[in-house]
This record gives sequence, C-alpha cells and structure tokens, in this order.
Amino acid sequence: MTVPLKLIDKFGRHIDYVRLSVTDRCDFRCVYCMAEEMTFLPRDQVLSLEEIYEVGAAFARLGVNKLRLTGGEPLVRKGILSLIQRLGKLDVELVITTNGSQLPTMADDLVAAGVKRINISLDTLNPERFKELTRKDKFDQVIAGIDAACKAGFKRIKLNAVILKGRNDDEVVALVDFARDRGLDISFIEEMPLGVISEHDREEAYCSSDEVRAMVHARYPLTKTEEQTAGPSTYYRMADSESRIGFISPHSHNFCSECNRVRVTVEGRLLLCLGNEHSMDLRELLRSEPDEEKRAAMLEKALIDSMDLKPEKHHFDLANEPQILRFMNATGG
Ligand code: 5AD
Ligand code: SF4
Repeated sequence: MTVPLKLIDKFGRHIDYVRLSVTDRCDFRCVYCMAEEMTFLPRDQVLSLEEIYEVGAAFARLGVNKLRLTGGEPLVRKGILSLIQRLGKLDVELVITTNGSQLPTMADDLVAAGVKRINISLDTLNPERFKELTRKDKFDQVIAGIDAACKAGFKRIKLNAVILKGRNDDEVVALVDFARDRGLDISFIEEMPLGVISEHDREEAYCSSDEVRAMVHARYPLTKTEEQTAGPSTYYRMADSESRIGFISPHSHNFCSECNRVRVTVEGRLLLCLGNEHSMDLRELLRSEPDEEKRAAMLEKALIDSMDLKPEKHHFDLANEPQILRFMNATGG
C-alpha cells in the first residue's frame, strides 16, 4: 500500500525522502568531516531511539517512501539494531550510510531487519592513507565489513568516495576497479564546506566531478544513464560491468530544483536544506506533549507546516569561511 504524499513545498517539490541522523558520534575522525578532538553532544540533547522512531513513523504516514539513517556513524549508537528493526516494518525503503567498521558483525542483522540498500564510505585502498584520512588504523576492518556486506545479501551496495586533490585523486580508477570486481556501485563526492577544518585548504583540495569523471572515462568509457535516484547524483555506466558510477557535485552542479529531501539532525532539528539554516525544532515538540496520540498528530502538522520553510536553493562558497558551522556528523550528510 502506498500512502499519498502530503509533503509538497512552495516550489512544487515532492519531499519523499528523509535522512535521519541517529548519532553525532563516530569511531573515525575523517579529515573532511571532523576535528581530531571532538566534543560530542550530551545525551539529553540527542533524540532517544523512541523519539527517532516517532519522527520516522510520522514521515511514513505522510507518504515519505525512503528513510536513510546516517550519523556520525549510525551503527555505533547503542541499541541501533532495535530501532532499525522497528523502522524496517514501516512502509518505506530503509537505507543506511555507514563507514563500514561495524559491518563484520552487523551486516547479516541489517539484512534480516529489512535493510535493502547500504552506502559504505571508502576513500582509499591504501592502509597508510586510510589512517591519514580517517585518523584511525581500521582499513582491514572496513574491507572485512564490505566483504561481509557482499555476502549478507543486500539488494544494492554503493561505495562513497570523497576525492581530494593531492590526497587520493590518484586512486579514482583503482576504486572503480574495486567496485567492479565486487559488482558494487560507486559514487564520487565533491567535498562540501561544512564545519571548520584544519587539515587542508578546501580550495586547493577541491577536485571537481568533471575531473574525476574524465579520469574514469579515460579507462572505462562512460555513458550517462537516465536513471535518477531522485537525488544529487548523476549516474553513468560502463559497457562491460553492472556497476554504476555516480557523481555527487554540490559545487559544480546545482541540484536544488530537483531536491526531494529533508534532514533531521541528531538533536531533532528538521533541516529543510543542507546549505541553509532553515529549520524547525522537533525535539521541543516531542518533549512538550506526553500523550502519544496527540504527539503524533502535532508532529504530522509540524512536518506539513515545515514545507513553507524549505528555501529555493543553497549557496556554497569555497573561497570564504564556511557559512555553515555545523559539522557533517551532526547533520547526517
Ligand atoms: N564533504 C563531502 N562529503 C562528506 N562526507 C562527510 N563529510 C563530508 C564533506 N565535508 C561524506 C562521507 C560519507 C558520507 C556520509 O558523507 O565521506 O561518504
Ligand atoms: Fe565518521 Fe563518516 Fe565523519 Fe568519517 S565522514 S568521521 S566516518 S561520520
């Protein structure tokens, strides 16, 4: 049964995809995402698993058909599997973005809970570089996690690689080969200016999707596919492989007009746009009404009302200080 969609914004965009951040914590410290020393949110400011479930369920009742769990690293949150099992029973496609470190032990449980698709971050195939980029020596664990995911029977697995000039731009084709060998999709992501980082100059490290695509194309001629997963990715195929190659280009391609998504931060802030501060506090609402039924109705109304806050477009500017001082780990990508 498909629920009719009730979330349509002022610009006629249909919001049928929600990203829920379930924790700001992570066992990695990727240089483009976090500082080496991070202070995480105190527990009471973070939505409980029950609150996250209520938000997910309200979106499902309003016709949202895809929920993605993100972090930080979603799979390090205590009790996450019980939340995934509950969300897995809703009438939505449930997907997860993970760094892969917990997959050796969790992949089978995720499939059993109804997770059909999973995105795994992998920026390099070199263990030393992995240590530099994530500041953790867990390359082998992540590869074991990817292998476990391949065996577990997900319908689709996609790798995500952030490409930075001078750090891993020489590994683009090797990453494509890794994906091809395992029948996985892979998306290349331009770094987004979220949070203040110290490790590299973002303008110097910027590697455009066009450059990355040219590198792949030189080895494996690419044909553009019309498949749109209703998102910021554009997809290409190679003649001799099932693997799809995606490019996520927040700088070089403005995808705002097709935007079908909103995000909920780990603190329960509904973000109507990644690049803007337009938001609504769902946590306060959730904690203001003790009656479950009334709370559910209030939540639905708030989500419908929030559509008026969704801005037409975002603006990223590499040259200036980040306009967005949230780190990615609290926003959920
Ligand atoms: N720019 C682009 N991608 C980022 N990610 C985290 N921070 C950034 C950033 N500043 C990516 C991770 C992962 C996904 C969850 O988001 O590499 O693939
Ligand atoms: Fe953790 Fe993902 Fe951020 Fe890396 S990018 S520190 S894996 S949340």
